[in-house]
Amino acid sequence: MQEMTDYDVVVMGTPVYWFHVAGQFKLLVDRLYSFLEFKANPETGQTEINSAFPKNRKLLFIISRGDPEPPEFYPELYNHMNDWFKLIPLSLGTESYELFHQYGANLDRKSAANDSELLTKARAKGAELV
Ligand SMILES: Cc1cc2nc3c(=O)[nH]c(=O)nc-3n(C[C@H](O)[C@H](O)[C@H](O)COP(=O)(O)O)c2cc1C
Repeated sequence: MQEMTDYDVVVMGTPVYWFHVAGQFKLLVDRLYSFLEFKANPETGQTEINSAFPKNRKLLFIISRGDPEPPEFYPELYNHMNDWFKLIPLSLGTESYELFHQYGANLDRKSAANDSELLTKARAKGAELV
């Protein structure tokens, strides 16, 4: 966790399992809680949330899912995951973040490696971030 603070860009990735992030990814995000500080504003008395993570680092999430976009089944179940991602920039003290999606992977483990258009887009995104 401490090492993450040394980098200008943080890239995190997960497959989608049952309309949510994979368990391992959730475990990492659970640990991000340790960067949060809750303090009462002396003027308003309201609790304010601050992150001890260095400010304004760039943040990219890479998400791979079997379903195409738009999804055929239960599209509404993805809304929760998409909203839930906002907790990560909150924990890491940055307002902006980007999502990079691979849609339609099915269960093919080589689907990303075999998708030259996707790889070109991913490389361009990587170059943009450095
Ligand atoms: C247990 C399990 C649940 C999955 N659930 C979803 C899902 O809800 N929506 C979806 O689009 N793909 C789902 N998939 C497909 C994976 O997202 C897809 O295969 C993945 O992006 C490939 O990553 P992996 O090889 O690291 O598992 C699921 C796959 C597994 C094995």
